[in-house]
Amino acid sequence: MPHKPDLPDPRTLFASHFGVGASGELSVPGRVNLIGEHIDYHNLPVLPMAIQRQIRIAFRRSSDSRIRAVSYDFGEREISTAGALPPSPSGDWANYLKAATLAVRDQWQTDSGMNTAITSDLPPAAGLSSSSALLVAATLALLQVNEEKADFQALMAVLPEAEHFVGTRGGGMDHAAVLAAESGCALLVHFAPLAVSSVPIPENWSFLLANSLIKAEKSGGVREAYNSCRNAGVRAREKLGFSSYAEALASHSQEDLQQLASGNQLSEEEARCFLHVTGEAWRVEQAVQALRVEDAHSFGNLLSQSHKSLRDLLQVSCPELDELVEIAMNSGAGGARLTGAGFGGCALIFCQASQVDRIRQEVIRKYYQKRHDAQPNDHIFPVLPSAGVLNA
Ligand code: GLA
Repeated sequence: MPHKPDLPDPRTLFASHFGVGASGELSVPGRVNLIGEHIDYHNLPVLPMAIQRQIRIAFRRSSDSRIRAVSYDFGEREISTAGALPPSPSGDWANYLKAATLAVRDQWQTDSGMNTAITSDLPPAAGLSSSSALLVAATLALLQVNEEKADFQALMAVLPEAEHFVGTRGGGMDHAAVLAAESGCALLVHFAPLAVSSVPIPENWSFLLANSLIKAEKSGGVREAYNSCRNAGVRAREKLGFSSYAEALASHSQEDLQQLASGNQLSEEEARCFLHVTGEAWRVEQAVQALRVEDAHSFGNLLSQSHKSLRDLLQVSCPELDELVEIAMNSGAGGARLTGAGFGGCALIFCQASQVDRIRQEVIRKYYQKRHDAQPNDHIFPVLPSAGVLNA
């Protein structure tokens, strides 16, 4: 059996740190994206699922306008909920508390502070949305201590924007998944207008996550590379005269779009990004169909094609992720790809349930043992389609 790292109880940490009990507690899962990478910020549909690993937050309203937060992994932070909130240094987790504070304050005009304790078994900077889960957790906790309620649409109207406070111009996929996913299902997320629907995952389909151990700090160095993918995709669309990618896809075949990209209007980088975005949108559509009819063969191929496109066209992979994908495929996986923003983080491995143990052992032998990794079980583990916090 895979080893599941302990997830400490945040109420215990809260009580020992603040000397009283917490009044509320929430668990927000991480997510993996099954397919639809680097297209949410172009308002194209994506297919993530929430996973069983999560951030847990215990909290209690404070008697002043301050947030005092403690975490086993990241230490203590204290910020004010009133007045200006200049960003903390890049990569500091206080920025997520500040982003939540600004979102709640601007949208709901509240200023109560809270004491809060946070625990997690989500590896940070691994492409599993630990940062969005933290933002969502802090936002929901702040809303509760301020006695405010917000539904999915109201939260989605502020959270993706709030995350831009940390500098990444991401889309809304992560927030949608960790809020609205249903247990046993992938979540098909449409943007502009926002709509979600659950697509059941067949019981004999399994997913493994393998951490490349290359950190993909969204708030750190990866930020510029991520934002430049987005910008090149936007420039390409504008130069080709489309008001949205949805419009381009509705009026052109994939062949037409490839021809357009190979004309001389786009720079080499813009053409690559345009081709990735339009191809990935097509793959999402196909993957949803494959999932609906339980066609594992096509689904796996689409995942692998997605990885190739992320590697060769968008160029957001790295040698370690490519190596993991190759090992997984050579070990009998149905498909494998990097998941999340890329530049490090995790590979997603798709296989039949009966293959999980064998593929895990092969990846441990060929990837982790080669790196003298003493705890490979922490770095490769099965993920289960889990419920978002609003459906818990
Ligand atoms: C990050 C962002 C998401 C999405 C992915 C890439 O996880 O937060 O919005 O853009 O990268 O698909």
